Amino acid sequence: MTHDVKSKMARPRSTMKFWKPGSEAPTISEERDLNTEIGGSTAVYNPFIALSIEKQRQKLPVFKHRNNILYLLETYQTVIIVGETGCGKTTQIPQYLLEVGWAAEGKVIGVTQPRRVAAISVAGRVAEERGARLGHEVGYTIRFDDCSDPQATRIKFLTDGILIREMMADPLLKKYSVLMLDEAHERTLYTDIAIGLLKKIQKKRPELRLIVASATLDAKKFHEFFNQNESGDPTRDTCGILSVEGRTFPVDIFYTLSPVPDYVKATVETVMKIHEAEDNGDVLAFLTGQEEVEKVVSLLQDQARSLSRQGMRKHLRILPMYSGLPYADQMKVFERVPATVRKVVVATNIAETSITINGIVFVIDCAFVKLRAYNPNTGIESLVVTPISKASASQRAGRAGRNRPGKCFRLYTEEDFEKLPPSTVPEMQRTNLAPVILQLKALGIDNVLRFSFLSPPPAQSMVQALELLFALGGLDNYGRLTEPMGVRMAEFPLSPMFAKMLLESGNFGCSKEIVTIAAMMQIQNIFVVPPNQKKAAARQHRKFAVAEGDHLTMLNVYEAYVKHQKSSKWCQQHFLNYKGLQRALTVREQLRRLMTKFKVVWTSSEGDPDVILRCIVAGFFANAARFHHSGSYRTLRDDRELHIHPNSVLYGEKPPKWVVFNEVLQTSKYFMRDVTAVESSWLVELAPHFYKQAKHDSLGSKRSRIV
Ligand code: CDP
Ligand code: MG
Repeated sequence: MTHDVKSKMARPRSTMKFWKPGSEAPTISEERDLNTEIGGSTAVYNPFIALSIEKQRQKLPVFKHRNNILYLLETYQTVIIVGETGCGKTTQIPQYLLEVGWAAEGKVIGVTQPRRVAAISVAGRVAEERGARLGHEVGYTIRFDDCSDPQATRIKFLTDGILIREMMADPLLKKYSVLMLDEAHERTLYTDIAIGLLKKIQKKRPELRLIVASATLDAKKFHEFFNQNESGDPTRDTCGILSVEGRTFPVDIFYTLSPVPDYVKATVETVMKIHEAEDNGDVLAFLTGQEEVEKVVSLLQDQARSLSRQGMRKHLRILPMYSGLPYADQMKVFERVPATVRKVVVATNIAETSITINGIVFVIDCAFVKLRAYNPNTGIESLVVTPISKASASQRAGRAGRNRPGKCFRLYTEEDFEKLPPSTVPEMQRTNLAPVILQLKALGIDNVLRFSFLSPPPAQSMVQALELLFALGGLDNYGRLTEPMGVRMAEFPLSPMFAKMLLESGNFGCSKEIVTIAAMMQIQNIFVVPPNQKKAAARQHRKFAVAEGDHLTMLNVYEAYVKHQKSSKWCQQHFLNYKGLQRALTVREQLRRLMTKFKVVWTSSEGDPDVILRCIVAGFFANAARFHHSGSYRTLRDDRELHIHPNSVLYGEKPPKWVVFNEVLQTSKYFMRDVTAVESSWLVELAPHFYKQAKHDSLGSKRSRIV
């Protein structure tokens, strides 16, 4: 991305410090997207839709590089391809490879995606371009959903997590001739792990080709990592880079002279100033989440209405853009507007690299993004509004210079810009590593500390993960995978805590209920709350709620759904997510099959809730909290303050003394999600190595030394 960085004025604003983001109550929808990758889909815009498929393919920027890409792949073991979103990397490159025979003799071209929805949608598109039925020549595999044919599929889209699972059965990934790691710039945990593992595999299989596809120019790190050439002679490089970057225009950067106290308000003001003072050109504003986007949209719509009352000639069209938005509404941001209208797209980070909107000339950048964060000292994983990196700031600014020179208004001072980190911290360095360490161990990588990481995680996160896996019984004293518990835990496509709960459920005598609970916990927003029917929805939802908490409530919902013949009408009447429940059904069935494979006895607690709750504790004991006289909760491990999430059935009820929870969300506070009341004695009984009984009623928070 080339754009001039100039520091010019923007009008002085207030002299207050940066507004501290996130002082509002959280909403659930978008956050669970981020957390579980089962989210809404992102719209794809195709400007050439009227042309034949063949013509459409030839119009894409990547087409000009076809031969070059194929040549590079003959020459180098690894090829890094950089190109803007929409240039054709994902849909075209695998087809070029197929066309010249990279999938001959039963070999497969694999393309990884960090997001499940992306895998499904690009697979659909490529199948369509080839006139093939999805699941045959072109297919996809994601967790709980395999739409590929081991014999027929030549191009397979799969999530990065699934690729690592496939390595358990096929450590050298022998069926693949080429693997393309797509969206590598996102640096997701599993893409990074796949990169480390594939470098190892390449040593044993030099013929295996890798393509690392990235939408940002920051590709040097990949090149250094993959280039095995130590001679310094470039003709002996083992890794090549190709840039498909289209033309970009210079972008003038403007900073505020003093920090803005409230970037939501500042965004609205800046849009209005652009509208008054600047020539034609659409505006793209970046905010951190759905709620902020909706707020800015509604404030701007008020302003737009008053402008048109004043008879202003040029109108504003304000459009939101975030991943939870219905598809048809997302598509609106790509529509052209007449010359008398200025389009203003108010978006989350989705507009940084996931989508490309034509006609943007002005960008407004609030300097923040919502990211997953992990505190290795407390073991708490949360979603936090964080300052962006310089690389993100420049990527955002670049969105203004696609069609002609543009302007980027940064709602922060140049001084603050200088303080930003150079690039976003990879997920590997800000996440709970227990699931991935378990998988590395299952792949025979015993010394995880010496694994070839693209960016090594903090040692403290490693230690935390090893301790947790030990406490769950997945690792022994020497850090080796236990048989059968550890091996089975690794095979479960769920986090180790869930896996443990499921694997133990037969012994507790409640596997039928636990498998339902685990399936329901994978689905977002089972309860539907239409904004204009909040009260009616709450009335219906209360019918399912139980004092024990969210897990048993979800069990009730599922059982009622089955009892009412899985009827969509019944779901609608009770404000339940029908599609979500259908999905819970399939997830449950797949988990049940795995449990049968592992010989978990098929049992029911026959209405006894305690059996189920104890089994939940057997998996989630590390996530325990006790009610504190201050009115909030404190973690048992390190006394951190926690609150019950407003979406929990326990919210606003008489607080149970002890709870366990599935996860924590941090917005204005730390919120526990999926919470259930437990007895403190169960914690000591079921996780004695983790908790010690203190003298009085309370539990000791010190762990015994493990690992
Ligand atoms: O991977 P990259 O972002 O470089 O582009 P792509 O996903 O291969 O998409 C290339 C083009 O294909 C897009 O610009 C769209 O015109 C079209 N496309 C589509 O029409 N429908 C899809 N589901 C995906 C892509
Ligand atoms: Mg792509």
